[in-house]
Amino acid sequence: MSRTLLVTTALPYANGPLHLGHILEGVLADIWVRYQRTRGADCLFLCADDAHGTAIMLKARELGLEPTALIDEVRREHQEDFRSFEIDFDHYHTTHSEENRRLVETCYARLREGGYLRRRSIIQSYDEDLGLFLPDRYIRGRCPRCGAEGQYGDSCEVCGSSYEAGELLDPVSVLTGRPPGRRASEHLFVDLESLAEPLRAFVHGGAVPQAVAHKLDEWLMGRLNDWDITRDAPYFGFPVPGETDKYFYVWLDAPLGYLATLRAWAGAERAEEIFARYWHPDSDAEIHHVIGKDIIYFHALFWPALLTVAGWRLPTRLTTHGFLTVQGVKMSKSRGTFVTARDAAAAVGAEAFRYYFASRARGGIEDLDLDPEQLVARTNSDLVGKIVNIAARSVPFLETDDGHPRTAGTCAAPELYARILAGGEEVADAYERQDFASAVQSILTLADETNTFIAQRQPWVLRQDPARRDEARAIATLGISVYRLLALYLGPVLPGLRARSEAFLGVPLDRWSAPPPLLNHRLNPYRPLLERLPRQAAQGLFPNRGPARG
Ligand code: MSP
Ligand code: ZN
Repeated sequence: MSRTLLVTTALPYANGPLHLGHILEGVLADIWVRYQRTRGADCLFLCADDAHGTAIMLKARELGLEPTALIDEVRREHQEDFRSFEIDFDHYHTTHSEENRRLVETCYARLREGGYLRRRSIIQSYDEDLGLFLPDRYIRGRCPRCGAEGQYGDSCEVCGSSYEAGELLDPVSVLTGRPPGRRASEHLFVDLESLAEPLRAFVHGGAVPQAVAHKLDEWLMGRLNDWDITRDAPYFGFPVPGETDKYFYVWLDAPLGYLATLRAWAGAERAEEIFARYWHPDSDAEIHHVIGKDIIYFHALFWPALLTVAGWRLPTRLTTHGFLTVQGVKMSKSRGTFVTARDAAAAVGAEAFRYYFASRARGGIEDLDLDPEQLVARTNSDLVGKIVNIAARSVPFLETDDGHPRTAGTCAAPELYARILAGGEEVADAYERQDFASAVQSILTLADETNTFIAQRQPWVLRQDPARRDEARAIATLGISVYRLLALYLGPVLPGLRARSEAFLGVPLDRWSAPPPLLNHRLNPYRPLLERLPRQAAQGLFPNRGPARG
């Protein structure tokens, strides 16, 4: 029975360029999707831009654009950037779409009919100059607990405490620098406490890693606060039907964007059928949301709450990853360590990043640190020096006809070849667990064994002796056959290298398999499958870097 999977990455905000953190997430998900496909799974891979909210509205104002013009432009850029890293979504949609509007309205109706909504007035910070309620991130002041300056309206980065924006001392609006006023307004809330049981069952039912489940228990064990799902005008989002000047909060419609994207991918005619195939409560498809640890709260509480009320099934797994840091610290514009996807692709290229991210990602929520020297070194020493080298060093010992190398009728060291086939099982298990670092490590170990064998047998010496030339060819045939397996094993990480290897070897590498050695096989003329990166390539990542630390 083959698996039916739907994999999503979080929907990036449409207010700026993608950065390397987004690319990390996309690469991790893309590797897993490609692996599942090599195993014959029917795997759909979707994403979209998250197009709503105050930040996008303000960004559009700043640029003198309509929000819709901004989000169209940004979506085009995001799609190009993902593509340049070989992150290959089946469809890339937007939350500002008709499909999504309808889904939001359906959910809203079900929330109302089910009696889950509460209406009450709350007091919030209000920028009098701009005529705008201020989200917590747009207010700064002194921490009410420890007195640290310049803290946001929701929490203090110095002492780690959370509080209400109204408690901040000497608050100012980030937009105008002036103290905000306070204003009352009516909002609609979802009564989450009445959904506590299904939420607890979800969080402890294997969908989130243990460590994350424990963290979520801090909320789940107490009384769950109502969830505010409306925002006042001006706002860029979907208006709440039947209300004046009220919009749905961006985090209500954002996850529904996963469903909207599926419907858009399916097309109007098949939308119902495809939707049911994945989201009907009896569906046996698996749904995997790949997300960063900062948005687990939204995906583990609000999202399943909404799905439960709507009568749809819950995700199979929230695959949660840590943050990308640069030399130990958060990427930062002021330090010049904030790297856009575009700059990264131009300076170093996609393959080095895909390989580096894979070689460092263990499937957990630990942060992953980018060390630019290592990024270059790993491509050069591992990929070029160890793996591709097996093919490159084998070709000269083969017979050629017409410039086409041809493998021999016998393969040296069948026991070594058998070990490399068996090693594929380990690699596969690691991919399945999303422990890509182990997958890469196993592949490297197999490459090392092969290189050691070739070095010991010295085909370049054997070739000198006409009586032993066949031995040299058999060793080279082993090398080519092993390279074929390693390119297959690495395929999910490096689809470009896989394609070039297919062209050189003249065999498909898109299905996980355990083939016999490639005997008497005509290859295509060898051209370098991967080039070394210049040592200074990584410096191009940080054109605006401040003075080096330490
Ligand atoms: N729009 C929301 C997601 C809505 S999903 C229904 C959002 N957007 S985001 O652009 O801020 O982040 C998109 C994804 O990128 C999130 O999973 C987030 O965790 C991830 N990352 C953002 N910065 C990151 C790093 N520095 N490192 C790794 N991932 C990071 O949140
Ligand atoms: Zn503090």
